[in-house]
Amino acid sequence: MNDVSPQTVYLKNYRPVPYLIDEVSLDFSLGPETTQVTSRLSLRPNEAAGMGGAPLVLDGEKLELKAISIDGKPIDTSRYSVNASSLTVAEVPQKPFTLEIVTTCNPKANTELSGLYVSSNIFCTQCEAEGFRRITYFYDRPDVMARYKVRIEGPADTCPVLLSNGNPGATGTIPGTDRHFALWDDPHPKPSYLFALVAGDLAHVADSFVTRSGRKVELRIYVEKGKEDRCAWAMESLKTSMRWDEERFGLEYDLDIFMIVAVSDFNMGAMENKGLNVFNDKYILALPETATDVDYVNIEAIIAHEYFHNWTGNRITCRDWFQLCLKEGLTVFRDQEFTSDIRSRAVKRIADVKLLRANQFTEDGGPLAHPVRPASYIEINNFYTATVYEKGAELCRMMLTLIGRDAFRKAMDLYFERHDGEAATVEDFVRCMADASGRDLNQFFSWYEQAGTPEVIVVEKYNATAKTYDLTLEQVTGPTPGQPDKAPLQIPLGIGLVGSDGDDMPLDLEGVGALNEPLIELTEAKKTFRFRNVARKPVLSLNRGFSAPIRIKSGASMADQLFLMKTDNDTFNRWEAAQTAAHALLRASLDGRKPAADTKSFISALRAVLNDSEVDQAFKALMLGLPGEQEVATLIGRDVDPGAIHQARERLRAEIGSSLKDVLLDLWKKTAAKGAYRPNPDETGRRSLRYAVLYAIAGGDSALGAKLAMNQLANSTSMTDEIGTLSTLVTLDVPERAAALEAFYARHHSDHLIVDKWFALQASAPLAGTNQKVRELMQHRDFKLTTPNRVRSLVGTLSMANPFAFHAEDGEGYAILADTILALDPLNPQIAARMATAFRSWATLEEKRREFAKAQLERIEAQPGLSRDLFEIVSKSLAQ
Ligand code: BES
Ligand code: ZN
Repeated sequence: MNDVSPQTVYLKNYRPVPYLIDEVSLDFSLGPETTQVTSRLSLRPNEAAGMGGAPLVLDGEKLELKAISIDGKPIDTSRYSVNASSLTVAEVPQKPFTLEIVTTCNPKANTELSGLYVSSNIFCTQCEAEGFRRITYFYDRPDVMARYKVRIEGPADTCPVLLSNGNPGATGTIPGTDRHFALWDDPHPKPSYLFALVAGDLAHVADSFVTRSGRKVELRIYVEKGKEDRCAWAMESLKTSMRWDEERFGLEYDLDIFMIVAVSDFNMGAMENKGLNVFNDKYILALPETATDVDYVNIEAIIAHEYFHNWTGNRITCRDWFQLCLKEGLTVFRDQEFTSDIRSRAVKRIADVKLLRANQFTEDGGPLAHPVRPASYIEINNFYTATVYEKGAELCRMMLTLIGRDAFRKAMDLYFERHDGEAATVEDFVRCMADASGRDLNQFFSWYEQAGTPEVIVVEKYNATAKTYDLTLEQVTGPTPGQPDKAPLQIPLGIGLVGSDGDDMPLDLEGVGALNEPLIELTEAKKTFRFRNVARKPVLSLNRGFSAPIRIKSGASMADQLFLMKTDNDTFNRWEAAQTAAHALLRASLDGRKPAADTKSFISALRAVLNDSEVDQAFKALMLGLPGEQEVATLIGRDVDPGAIHQARERLRAEIGSSLKDVLLDLWKKTAAKGAYRPNPDETGRRSLRYAVLYAIAGGDSALGAKLAMNQLANSTSMTDEIGTLSTLVTLDVPERAAALEAFYARHHSDHLIVDKWFALQASAPLAGTNQKVRELMQHRDFKLTTPNRVRSLVGTLSMANPFAFHAEDGEGYAILADTILALDPLNPQIAARMATAFRSWATLEEKRREFAKAQLERIEAQPGLSRDLFEIVSKSLAQ
């Protein structure tokens, strides 16, 4: 809790540290209530900083200082001082010296899950972003890179396993005690946020990987005893990731051992600590009967993501936390490419764009909008956002599009060559892109500094006599907090001019000639592109592959959209056309118009796609998916009535379900399981179509949907089948519903990851009784505020994945969220703040809901002693 008002940190105030740390030797004596840490730091003045004689100020929180000495001599109390956030030592030697600090902390009392804590009797650490300071006094900032040697001592019976970063050293027992120890040595300099320690009674599975230069790396996944049989998919995914990074980027692993530990209390998804990744167990454990296809795909992608950080994040780290996108945006880009290469590129692209629109566009359009590289923050943990991650990845992708695949690879090689072992900046990275390609990326850099989603307005003019096609594009980015005026951005736009036969026409651009790549670049606020020799009026397919994270505003007709939906050579834009058409129908329906004819043509275009034997099942599933309610709300942007959006979407769902009943039932039969569960792309695609079909059928006929669901449930062999079925069943107000949920709990109550799914299913129901049910479930014996996964599955699902219930007209959804946040903040401020972001669009709501939501935000803000995390989110949300 803060007792002074929270301070803002500014990028422009970055200064190097006055002293560097070359080596760190840490000695842990583990105890659940008292862990003692002895830290020996080899320090020397940082000549480059030019701050000779400055005091040594180290970060530290919730620590008890027991002893402090310099070069082996205890120092006088007058020479140092301690407050709630730091240790200051005056008059330190102006030559290399050793500082030894002894502190204690209390892992058991650590409910924030930052620093050293205990999760189900396992000691584990989470240091990113600023958790190391809760373990010992240190320069807890990423530009201080040091070599770590660690000794861990703990009870042999409850902590047989003692792990830290790097390569293992000696182990032994301590004579005359029940304690033992292990040594670890990490030869690679690293920032403190990558430090990790794990100790406990864990089982592990082992495998190995031979790098392409022939080094053998031991691979281990540590889990709670009895869960060893759930690690096979994670291990497979790890080996696939290691091979892929060698092949695609020429990057090899650099230690003798790579370890992953799965824990059940974790604030995030997973963490890339050097050589010792720590994971939320939800992203490790999987068997066909416990995990869904979505879980399998997530596990694969997150293992890859954390593994890829070894180069993009660990070997080259961030100079300061403003550069977070340097590691996160780039590593998300790399994991997206990984999934695209080993699964379906089109499916992955569509999934990512859906996510970007629902989360990042929403963030960018509200009070929490910030640039990919922010210029200031109050609490850095609040900046692990969709903008830094997902938009950050889009910026990497745009640079690839602009400079080409070969130059991009050269630029990455150059980046590793220039900056290995350094703490770098976004400028360093973009300079590599410019230098390797010979392109000027100065204008492009604005993408990192300017918040908001650009809108590109399209005007088309075809001249049949001159055979010219004029495409006028105008870009506009609206104001965002602190940035009223925007500069034009460099926007790469994939383009196709589609002829009436569905083929792309040649692109002959005036002033350029025939285009090698179907790509144009908009760099001005407004520009007309004239295409020559255009035989007939084309249908425009713009921003192909979602080449830029923008919104397109065009006057294209419904007929054009349906044409593209059936014929566009660009798979992404085929899907996009269906989305645009569906948006238009939903908007018309919300405005009280009845677009009967258009709805009919849309549905018949959908029928054509579903019947097309050339189209794969995963793509059919995506085409059947209507835009999410959040996406629709974000597009509308003001006076939003989430209830009306839900009803409009339900009406369209019902119409699709009943008009296409024959095709859907046929697909339902055709997609029945054959053989054992496999998580490969084909089978995953088949099941995704199957459950998209069930959802559509049930929309048209709930009794039939319930009947099919119950039959399927009785014959389910995988968790994907169970969840696929139940997630439709919970949307229906039918008698089968309650019993099915009860049976699911009875079957799975002893598996915490499946109990999370049970909570989430109920919180996801767009039904009138949901809020009441959520209140009840908050009293359930399995509900715990101190377990982030549990809070996310119940209250997170309600507030972030169920707009109908969350935005209930009586304000009860908002009240539930605010009550939870207030109870959670003293326990785990990071999670409390994250949950509070669900209020971020309150000002775009219609008046009644707006007032309810605002009142809840004000109630939170009025609470004395708010954490810095929650204070930042709530105060910024209200400041508009
Ligand atoms: N470095 C992060 C984990 C992290 C985030 C630690 C915030 C501390 C504060 C990790 O690499 C990460 O990005 N994890 C993601 C999953 C990933 C696949 C995008 C997560 O945990 O959600
Ligand atoms: Zn990451």
